[in-house]
Amino acid sequence: MNDTVKIFDTTLRDGEQTPGVNLNLTEKLEIARQLERLGVDIIEAGFAGASRGDFESIEAIAASVRKPVICSLARCVKSDIDAAWQSLKNAARPRIHVFIAASPIHLEKKLRITAEQAIQSAAESVRCAKQFCRDVQFSAEDATRADFDVLCRMYSAAIEAGATTINLTDTVGYATANEFSRLCQELMRNVKGIENVTFSVHCHNDLGLAVANSLVAVRHGARQVECTMNGLGERAGNAALEEIAMGIKTRSDYYMADVNINTKSLYVTSRLISQLTGVDIPPNKPIIGENVFRHQSGIHQHGMLRDRATYEIMKASAVGFPDGAAPLGKLSGRHAFQAEAERMGFNLSAEEIDASFKRFKDLADRKKEVTEQDLYAIFAGFLHEVPTVFHMVSYQLFAGNTLTPTATVTLEHDGEKIVEAAVGDGPIDAAYRAIDRITGLAPKLESYSIRAVTEGQDALGEVTVRITRSAQEQIRTLGKGVSTDIIEASILAYINAINRLFLG
Ligand code: KIV
Ligand code: ZN
Repeated sequence: MNDTVKIFDTTLRDGEQTPGVNLNLTEKLEIARQLERLGVDIIEAGFAGASRGDFESIEAIAASVRKPVICSLARCVKSDIDAAWQSLKNAARPRIHVFIAASPIHLEKKLRITAEQAIQSAAESVRCAKQFCRDVQFSAEDATRADFDVLCRMYSAAIEAGATTINLTDTVGYATANEFSRLCQELMRNVKGIENVTFSVHCHNDLGLAVANSLVAVRHGARQVECTMNGLGERAGNAALEEIAMGIKTRSDYYMADVNINTKSLYVTSRLISQLTGVDIPPNKPIIGENVFRHQSGIHQHGMLRDRATYEIMKASAVGFPDGAAPLGKLSGRHAFQAEAERMGFNLSAEEIDASFKRFKDLADRKKEVTEQDLYAIFAGFLHEVPTVFHMVSYQLFAGNTLTPTATVTLEHDGEKIVEAAVGDGPIDAAYRAIDRITGLAPKLESYSIRAVTEGQDALGEVTVRITRSAQEQIRTLGKGVSTDIIEASILAYINAINRLFLG
């Protein structure tokens, strides 16, 4: 029988360290709930000692996400460990994760302590965490550049002090696959008590080896892999969860292991996280990129028509990929619509189903054919709990190369319809100025981008905007809007970003 490799998701901690990503509490909760549906074993919800915001989101996740273990990171510092425990104390299955640097460069330049002091601090911190929590993980940071003897003694001391998981990190993505393989095997032979704890790995992707090295470790007995959805993380990111999960599943014959991941939810989870973080998924990204189940060459297409296995080692449906078929039509009813949402991995409330069904009917009136990708765009729009402080009612535009672009926009706010008009450099600028007059907020538009999310002339366009509320407060949000009409998508994205300013 195959062993289970636990999936430790650190999207909300290491993944949130991706440059430009800044998730608020509601967004983090939404992601944690989706990770629970995906079936991850452990969610690292944040670093409680780092900020009040992190502390509060770990607390909120611990209170409402009950199935996976919820983990809080701490340096080997008493105040961090206290904060980690305070943030976790209502969790159904809490874990404190303590870490300290192990490499000479980190010890000398960053911490300015000796290796012996670091080993002592590791053991004391594990003992301290153990007073609060049975489940304690210890990580030696920058382990792949550490002296082997120091590393062995550090892990052995942590295990003796009560650590239940020890984590081998490749913090700067430096190790080659052969070196990492040898290191795993040597640690398995030399760390005292390693056979009684879970051996975990945590790899960064600076040289593009994060997934390969993690999988090498699985082959040598690692039974926990730390990773992030879409490979988010500092610099080049962390090992991508979707690649680890499908790597182990697809080659279970080689790894002799399995994972608890509901792989059919990978696509939806990946898109949700992309939407909330604003980090796009490259089309050739393994497992979840738009191109990975497409075949361009005639020879490949010919083979595929005979038998898909000629050029595909995984099924698109296994990762929840839309198959491009038009599963529902104009005359489809609410039941079929809800069943389709569930089949695609969306778990929407009754109100969300009602609202998305209305959008589907509107779209079916406007488009010749509603594709699975269209449905995906509709469902995904309802994954976020964004308050509708402002709601678009209507808009009118006058634009042309001999006219001053003018927009009149009507929004609903507190049950009241408010109309404003403005001129601008272009129709979208005019519409945004009219909206600013209504909301009285006038945020700074940091960026605006548009892309087609479906195919054909009547494709749905998705607009993404980033706004900052004020230079002093530095409150940043991201908004998305989807429509067959790019002006409407632009207005919806801007209103969505403004409504997000009202999130907790
Ligand atoms: O990369 C790293 O070393 C880490 C540790 C804190 C686990 O993220
Ligand atoms: Zn890391």
